[in-house]
Amino acid sequence: MLRIDSLRKAPNAELQLPGSKSITNRALIIASLAEGTTSLSRALFAEDTLAMIDCLKSFGISIEANQPMETIDVTGTNGKLDAPQDSLWVRQSGTTARFILPISALITAPIQVDGDAQIRSRPQEDLLRALNQLGVEVAYSGEPSHLPLTLNGSNLKVKDIKISGDTSSQYLSALLLVSPCLPQKITFTLEGNAVSLPYIDMTIEMMRSFGAIVEIDEPNTFTVHPTGYTGRDYEIETDASTASYFFAAAAVSQGRVVIDGIGENSIQGDIGFINILEQMGAKVTIGADSIEVSGQNQLKGIEVSMRELSDTAPTLAAIAPYCSGTVRVTDIGFIKNKESDRVSAVVTEMKKLGIDARAEEDGFVIEPGMPIGNVIHSYDDHRIAMAFTVLGLLAEGVVIDDANCVAKTCPEFYEHIDTLRLEGDEELAILAIDGPAGSGKSSLAKLLAQELQLEYLDTGAMYRSVAAEVIAANIDPEAYREVTQITDNIDISFNGQEVFVNAKNLTKQIRSPEVNSIVSYVAANPGVRAILRRAQRSWARQRGGGVLEGRDIGSVVFPKAKLKVYVTATPEERAHRRSLESGRDMKEILNEIQERDEIDSSRTDSPLSVSSNAIVVDTTDKTLSEVANEVLRNFNV
Ligand code: CDP
Ligand code: CDP
Repeated sequence: MLRIDSLRKAPNAELQLPGSKSITNRALIIASLAEGTTSLSRALFAEDTLAMIDCLKSFGISIEANQPMETIDVTGTNGKLDAPQDSLWVRQSGTTARFILPISALITAPIQVDGDAQIRSRPQEDLLRALNQLGVEVAYSGEPSHLPLTLNGSNLKVKDIKISGDTSSQYLSALLLVSPCLPQKITFTLEGNAVSLPYIDMTIEMMRSFGAIVEIDEPNTFTVHPTGYTGRDYEIETDASTASYFFAAAAVSQGRVVIDGIGENSIQGDIGFINILEQMGAKVTIGADSIEVSGQNQLKGIEVSMRELSDTAPTLAAIAPYCSGTVRVTDIGFIKNKESDRVSAVVTEMKKLGIDARAEEDGFVIEPGMPIGNVIHSYDDHRIAMAFTVLGLLAEGVVIDDANCVAKTCPEFYEHIDTLRLEGDEELAILAIDGPAGSGKSSLAKLLAQELQLEYLDTGAMYRSVAAEVIAANIDPEAYREVTQITDNIDISFNGQEVFVNAKNLTKQIRSPEVNSIVSYVAANPGVRAILRRAQRSWARQRGGGVLEGRDIGSVVFPKAKLKVYVTATPEERAHRRSLESGRDMKEILNEIQERDEIDSSRTDSPLSVSSNAIVVDTTDKTLSEVANEVLRNFNV
């Protein structure tokens, strides 16, 4: 359950969003089939692209992914792939499932493909029929035309193929992507009233960038020559679908966002979403490598076909209630086959918020209204979760039941959303106190909270709580995923001096020497920090302010805090204080806190540092009340 805190002020933010999922997954396929190496930059690291990387590795392809740098290096195979030993697992990823299936045409051994329940239920029939026509044998272990299945390309016969495009354009994209590696040239004819055509253009554009020859003879007839691909360095654009939520948020709140890494030459169809916002009254400025959207007045209603950019239909729905007139989206009946039935999901959840919304045969209609608070079901669909988060920025009390599904395409989505709230934090009565162990942070924070009649949050206790759970679960404190997962499932609450972790009173345990010895390793984990930072921000925003103490409150959690204080004291003094409190040997404590100081100050994510414009107080020779008086003189709520 994630409660969406509303915006207090219109946002004004420049964002670095992750790379495009569609481009990353196409680039991974092409690079794997290419001759020579490919280096991808601004690659997306999310469930859907990790699924693709894992599947491609099963074909013996060497892929080196560097998540912090957002790069992926692929050693190409020139189309000569090993047969995978085990069944391929596509997780929940539609592009991975579809792009991987035609690779069977390049392998003379059976390959098995399977994935999560959600992908098992999504249709693949037209693609499988096309592969079958090329001589690929298909055997189903479950329902016909669905995963799990086994493909065998031993009897490949290249011939021209007709394929329907009215369920998904991914089928044709999938076939096109392997075609340069087939032994002969091949022609595809796209039949029916094809959907999402810009994705086919994207595929062809990318294939050509890697040396393929694709001829478009008549509309809907595509001939690919057997040239293979040539590896190269390739920069991936920022994801236009992910960007749509931030453009929408800026337009509807009369704020401003700038998104870098995407611009006038974008190959993503979802970039068209900004044209819709422009027609509704937003101001849009497109540069070579960035796009700025700002809201001017209340947005107008619109009637619009979203056939070409249907992934952004829920985004438009999210801002529809706040428009001055009706919003009608047409031509998107096919999105019932996405991660969820998106038309029905949008309408059902809108109604829960008291909004007049209805489904039509090929789209939906949403009337203006003020959403009331309620719990939104995400249907395990990232786009539903993200869209209703944007809606929640302007309403009170919107809660997303399973917000983690955003990890499919943008694991850091809520961090970016938080960036939109930073302007509004100036309005809160926040006192940020940072400093090393034993500097007097918590004594000072408690005293000031009392004086100022604000609530107090000990963020160190939150990191300590995670550390205690890591010890209890017997997990390596530096194991990124496992420790992040523990943090995701932790429920920390405070009752006066007492700390409850998942309903257990762990007040004593979290101060134990065992916790002291691992807490800084746990706290260096960016996944842990992201989750706790979000909880800390939400805590203060829901209260209109508070006194928070820790290591990064002024520098990262609340850079716009009303007052930032950095307290410090000599290591000996700090160890002496801790020794008086606990009765433990001072030398031992000195070693312990110096070790923690070192890890806390040198980690890459939010190191302990004096934030700009913080007042620095050396407490070594000062009493607590002297320090408190000094701080209070600077704090005017
Ligand atoms: O009270 P003491 O200074 O011993 O530690 P604490 O405030 O309870 O914090 C324990 C540990 O949590 C620190 O050594 C940091 O590694 C971590 N921490 C952090 O990284 N960021 C915060 N905002 C608070 C604590
Ligand atoms: O939270 P942090 O680790 O920074 O320190 P604390 O728990 O507030 O302070 C550690 C001990 O030092 C407490 O027993 C305080 O009473 C004492 N202290 C002090 O002697 N002089 C100060 N100016 C601040 C704290």
